[in-house]
Amino acid sequence: MERVKKVGIIGAGHVGSTLAFILSSSTPYEIVLQDKDKDRARGMLLDMFQASCIGTKFTKLGVITNPKDLKGCDLIVIAAGSPRLPGMSRNDLLFANAKVISEICKDIKENSPESILLLVTNPLDAMVYTALKETGFKNNQILGMAGVLDSARMASFIYEKLQCAQGQIVAPVMGGHGDDMVPLARFSSVNGVPLSELLSEQEIEEVVLRTRNAGAEIVSCLKKGSAYFAPARATAEMVIAIMSDSHKILPSAVYLNGEYGYRDVVAGVPVELGRNGVERIVELTLNEKESSQFANSVNSVKTLIDELNSNYFK
Ligand code: 2OP
Repeated sequence: MERVKKVGIIGAGHVGSTLAFILSSSTPYEIVLQDKDKDRARGMLLDMFQASCIGTKFTKLGVITNPKDLKGCDLIVIAAGSPRLPGMSRNDLLFANAKVISEICKDIKENSPESILLLVTNPLDAMVYTALKETGFKNNQILGMAGVLDSARMASFIYEKLQCAQGQIVAPVMGGHGDDMVPLARFSSVNGVPLSELLSEQEIEEVVLRTRNAGAEIVSCLKKGSAYFAPARATAEMVIAIMSDSHKILPSAVYLNGEYGYRDVVAGVPVELGRNGVERIVELTLNEKESSQFANSVNSVKTLIDELNSNYFK
């Protein structure tokens, strides 16, 4: 019988716990959950296990009480850290969350050195960089979730304008997960029909702007936290793509080592995902405007990474 695959989720906040629930209700994976508040993690897992008992297949769930419980994880999602509050940019969280990631990475390095790491904590691209630096893991082993979320948001705004074509909208977003992310209208389509055939230039521009501001729009409504349903579902999509060795192409935040002309930086690009994490980085041919927007976005991430290199990794 094939071994049951094991997914670790660090951080039982809104994103981590919603992700655990999605995976426990839709996959056969064993799930182990860690939170600095152990009772919270235990309460959530009891609740989720009881939920799974309403169906026919009981999920194997556990609480991580000791770093050794991370042993045997095929993939670990890091969703720990402080969330964004109103008025805060994702970057305001840089040093506080880098510290959280560093501590978690020490445990992972010691107990689960072969696992794939999927980061969700903001500022996302800089946290992926932090995890690479702290673990010394191979570049293919560590990636971040942002592009699947940003693309879903862009698709939702296109749907709002079109009022048709559910499930047929493809709207890729590249770059860092920040205010200057790069929604790729030219590569967007509705079942092969280019977006430019369906929406005016002004409508497309409105979609692009709203996509860049989508996280902040939700933060300003929720007041005490940031989005979690779509982030959790986007993370689940990536977990399943990796664990099932699907070779799906999904936008992911990865270390660039010459791709798109950049080195020693992390940014969102289309990536083929499989059991090794990053199987291949796909290099799109960008036009002048897209290249310059991508450069802008990568430079914003670089500023954060420089900040970490000068004032954190000393
Ligand atoms: C979002 O985009 C906070 O990064 C998170 O909703």
